Amino acid sequence: MTVIRSVVRGCGSYLPARMLTNHDLAAMVDTSDDWIVQRTGIRQRHIAAAGEHTSDLAVTAAERALAAAGMAPQDIDLIVLATATPDNTFPASAVAVQAQLGITGGAAFDMQAVCSGFVFAVATADSMLRAGDFKRALVIGSETFSRILDWKDRTTCVIFGDGAGAIVLEAQEQPGTTADRGVLGAKLRSDGRHKDKLYVDGGPSTTGTAGFLRMEGKEVFRHAVGLMTGAITDVLAATGTTAQEVDWFVPHQANQRIIDGCAHKLGVPSEKVISTVAQHGNTSAASIPLALDTAIHDGRIKPGDLVMIEAMGGGFTWGAALIRW
Ligand code: ACO
Repeated sequence: MTVIRSVVRGCGSYLPARMLTNHDLAAMVDTSDDWIVQRTGIRQRHIAAAGEHTSDLAVTAAERALAAAGMAPQDIDLIVLATATPDNTFPASAVAVQAQLGITGGAAFDMQAVCSGFVFAVATADSMLRAGDFKRALVIGSETFSRILDWKDRTTCVIFGDGAGAIVLEAQEQPGTTADRGVLGAKLRSDGRHKDKLYVDGGPSTTGTAGFLRMEGKEVFRHAVGLMTGAITDVLAATGTTAQEVDWFVPHQANQRIIDGCAHKLGVPSEKVISTVAQHGNTSAASIPLALDTAIHDGRIKPGDLVMIEAMGGGFTWGAALIRW
């Protein structure tokens, strides 16, 4: 019996032109390239220009994903945009993307799960495609975290950056085995007891301001590896797959030490783990599609490969999804 799967047809990404290196940051706050590289693996991050919004980054990434898929904007009937830094409180930045792409049909909405946003968006779009209500989805992660950073706080401003990435998912009939192409399984989790460990100290209903990012770095680190590897193990069990069968692990690009910790716990060699955190820092919901796009362009991820995406972020939220490319 055939089943509907959400098959990846294209991927694209975008980083703003302005780059801020660790050395640049050392001239702004009491930090050093050595400290940042040692603790996080990050060497540089990109910063959106004045007037360049989350939706603008998203549109460029989406256009590149559509080009890679050989599709026109009119082929898309669903846009799910993962972001914690929307252009405005409302409407959703996804509708700004829809309008800029000239799409007038279908549905577009934002998804808020912070750094786990892209995994949540992929799982949500996959459910909607498999339900048969939509045919082709743009799943985007786009962030301008530079706008919610306290640039005087060295414990947070060195970690985050701006960027966007997107994939096109298409509903296709597949034989219904683990050899199928497309999203094979996903697990999403959250636990609000940790909501004060990584948060923004403002919002429309509290302060009436956008606020600044605050983080208990050690606490986030302490939970990250266990939560992410737990979600991965659950997805492997649900899909009858082993970690050894997975060709590529594409983690949320938060911190090289968290990425290494997950690989170590799963017994996965580092050659199978895609890491781009050195080049763009933590771009929250954008980091996974940015890493995917890098590994597609350099020839590592190829059609037929088994790819595990995984993330953990504010909330806490966390999750993983297994995709045959
Ligand atoms: N430059 C220089 N020194 C610094 C800096 C900085 N940018 N930031 C903090 N320090 C100092 C601290 O003040 C402290 O000094 P002290 O010993 O005199 O008090 C010292 O460095 C050690 O600070 P710690 O907070 O103990 O450093 P730690 O080794 O825990 O590293 C870090 C901090 C990198 C934030 C780490 O806790 C971490 O990676 N946490 C995970 C956070 C993360 O990745 N968040 C991303 C968002 S969540 C997600 O996406 C999964």
